[in-house]
Amino acid sequence: MEYIADNNRYNNMLYRRCGKSGLQLPALSLGLWHNFGGVDDFENGRAIVRKAFDAGITHFDLANNYGPPPGSAEETFGEILRKDLRPYRDEIIISTKAGYNMWSGPYGEWGSKKYLVASLDQSLKRMGIDYVDIFYSHRPDPNTPIEETMGALDLMVRQGKALYVGISNYSAEQSEIAIKTLKQLETPCLIHQAKYSMFDRWVENGLLTVLDNNGVGCIAFSPLAQGLLTNRYLNGIPKDSRAAKEHGFLKAEQITNELLNKINQLNSIALNRNQTLAQMAIAWLLNKPQLTSVLIGVSKESQLNDCLLSLKNTHFTNDELKKIEKILD
Ligand SMILES: NC(=O)c1ccc[n+]([C@@H]2O[C@H](COP(=O)([O-])OP(=O)(O)OC[C@H]3O[C@@H](n4cnc5c(N)ncnc54)[C@H](OP(=O)(O)O)[C@@H]3O)[C@@H](O)[C@H]2O)c1
Repeated sequence: MEYIADNNRYNNMLYRRCGKSGLQLPALSLGLWHNFGGVDDFENGRAIVRKAFDAGITHFDLANNYGPPPGSAEETFGEILRKDLRPYRDEIIISTKAGYNMWSGPYGEWGSKKYLVASLDQSLKRMGIDYVDIFYSHRPDPNTPIEETMGALDLMVRQGKALYVGISNYSAEQSEIAIKTLKQLETPCLIHQAKYSMFDRWVENGLLTVLDNNGVGCIAFSPLAQGLLTNRYLNGIPKDSRAAKEHGFLKAEQITNELLNKINQLNSIALNRNQTLAQMAIAWLLNKPQLTSVLIGVSKESQLNDCLLSLKNTHFTNDELKKIEKILD
């Protein structure tokens, strides 16, 4: 059946300005790292993306290597665009990245101009689009001059193949240098995509201050620690969960008793707030003014519905925050 987007799609979503740029991003964005590959059910992924757009999620995040197999998540998203979202292209922010291993030989990973420029061309073809809204350098490259990597991002913008550029997984120090280099090229760094959740708070150690000082936005990836910060693993490892999948990046060994103890304690606080743990984990991030958006992944429409409800309560009492700190300590 032909997809017609919900007329009320902008009524409940919150939008936040990305650093000091002109661009606003939804408080919740959707990532296609898992569950959208060639190995996954296309109709399930399609239903999730449609539901997301209907709920005001305007930002979809990809990378050249998302799948499996690598490249197939971009193909899936291209297919959804063609079938459903094409009329709405100007309402959508599509991001992709390059940096990790994508093809054989010395030009298939890291941060050379040769790799990044070729990779973006491939991504555009797979998605069937003329430009991406945001292109990221997916990781810093210790062996390529930063001027070359940032120069490649600047080139993409000047060629009209990317509207904005960003960096991901750069340390606070590396970010400072990358941001400065882009400024000199007169292509501002829009955003940093960083791993950030209750279980991984490295960004609080300098990165958020660097971004704030430079007017650069921040989008938090794996905000649910790949599903650990949800009720998913409270009673064992479900067969359809990421930790049970051979190609999943969450490994069963990571779910230790010590961690489960923390998850259970956090779950009790969430229930007292009338939230699920996933909702509280997202709300805890949205409570931080430096964050532009929280970039979730979901394997089912029901999980997306659950996550969307986090927007209803992002306020925490001092007592709740203290209790959470004590558990995370
Ligand atoms: N820049 C980078 O280097 C980088 C790295 C990683 C990710 N990312 C981006 O960040 C996005 C999100 O990462 P992520 O998938 O790790 O995020 P996440 O939100 O931390 O974890 C997603 C997983 O949590 C579970 N989940 C989600 N909502 C739930 C709910 N309401 N109740 C119960 N379980 C729920 C699902 O697990 P099940 O699958 O088990 O159902 C889902 O697959 C990626 O898609 C990608 O775009 C970027």
